[in-house]
Amino acid sequence: MKQKKLQKNYKSKEPLLYQIKPVFKKEIKDDLINYIKGDNWFTEFKFTKKFEEKFAKYTNSKYCICFPNGTLTMSSVLDCLKLNKGSEVLVSNYTMVATANVAKFTGHKLKLVDISDKDLCMCPEDLMKKISKKSKVVIFTHMNGRIGQIDKIKKICRRKNIILIEDAAHAIGSFFKKKHVGNLGIAGSFSFSMPKLITMGQGGAIITNNRNLANKLRLYKNFGRKNSGEDIHNYFGYNLKITDMQSVLGLGQLKIIKSLIKKKKNIFKRYESKLKKNIKIKLFKIKKNETPWSVDVYIDNIKKIKKILEKKNILTRYVYPPLNSQKIYKNIKNLPISEHFCTRGLWLPSSLDLKNKDIDRVCKVLNQIVN
Ligand SMILES: Cc1ncc(COP(=O)(O)O)c(C=O)c1O
Repeated sequence: MKQKKLQKNYKSKEPLLYQIKPVFKKEIKDDLINYIKGDNWFTEFKFTKKFEEKFAKYTNSKYCICFPNGTLTMSSVLDCLKLNKGSEVLVSNYTMVATANVAKFTGHKLKLVDISDKDLCMCPEDLMKKISKKSKVVIFTHMNGRIGQIDKIKKICRRKNIILIEDAAHAIGSFFKKKHVGNLGIAGSFSFSMPKLITMGQGGAIITNNRNLANKLRLYKNFGRKNSGEDIHNYFGYNLKITDMQSVLGLGQLKIIKSLIKKKKNIFKRYESKLKKNIKIKLFKIKKNETPWSVDVYIDNIKKIKKILEKKNILTRYVYPPLNSQKIYKNIKNLPISEHFCTRGLWLPSSLDLKNKDIDRVCKVLNQIVN
């Protein structure tokens, strides 16, 4: 829908602020147009290979393998690990449903772990309580780019012989001790869906430093064959390839990744400075080594606040509900911290083209209605 038409649906005359929308520089759109006009193959080919090489270089990991999205990334890793039947996969109760669903899809038992009230990521103490002899994998979500207590989680996993996978869907540009996230366990999963820092419309990637896993993933995503156009299948596999058109978009954004990161950090900082005096609005810090994908705030009565903001042409989105509030995971109990924050969170407008005056407008309204 055109901006003007959409705006008619709202009462305010102020410009409409989306919670998030894709923003592509003209040069990136031109790259795609040129690709389409050129003598190209459209399927996954040279540009995807180049994107994988560049993304591996950017994250300083040995291997990068692209997937159609950041769900199939994680389910593919789980499938390739060939865990025993009945193995448990532990996931934070505050994450997108995909992180939990991949455990189910691949036939494993899901265990939900509460979050820490310091950083909204998996709580190491609760993880310790949930681990059993059957626990084989932890998927740690870097919620809104936050590192959380990944160092403690890593140590627990090592001690308990549990494989660590990082769900870094929100976390391009976040580092732990100079290592890009995704390099701290066996594999790191990224999503390039519309709201992400790098977007291909849809898309995803796994980074890993484990050669064996990288080889398995490459076979797995290509019908279990070594080379396209050669029908020798020594392994089982799916078709999880992407298109070079997506990779052209990804390459264009990777070229300017530093400026995208800077912009997101600045958006977060400006919100922080304008909201910090309001003690009723809780904002979890984003540290220097972290990059947020959006701005998340935690407030009581978010339903009412969301509606008022909407009337003023400011669109927000509820953060992910606690997984154990979803019908499919409802019988899992005793996760009080995630239940508290996930029912109070709003994503504020955070698109890359947001101007300071837009942020100031959102904060002015928020500070007026939350007092
Ligand atoms: C934390 C997290 N993990 C996984 C996903 C799934 O990624 P995709 O939409 O690319 O499948 C998302 C999507 O937003 C996400 O936020």
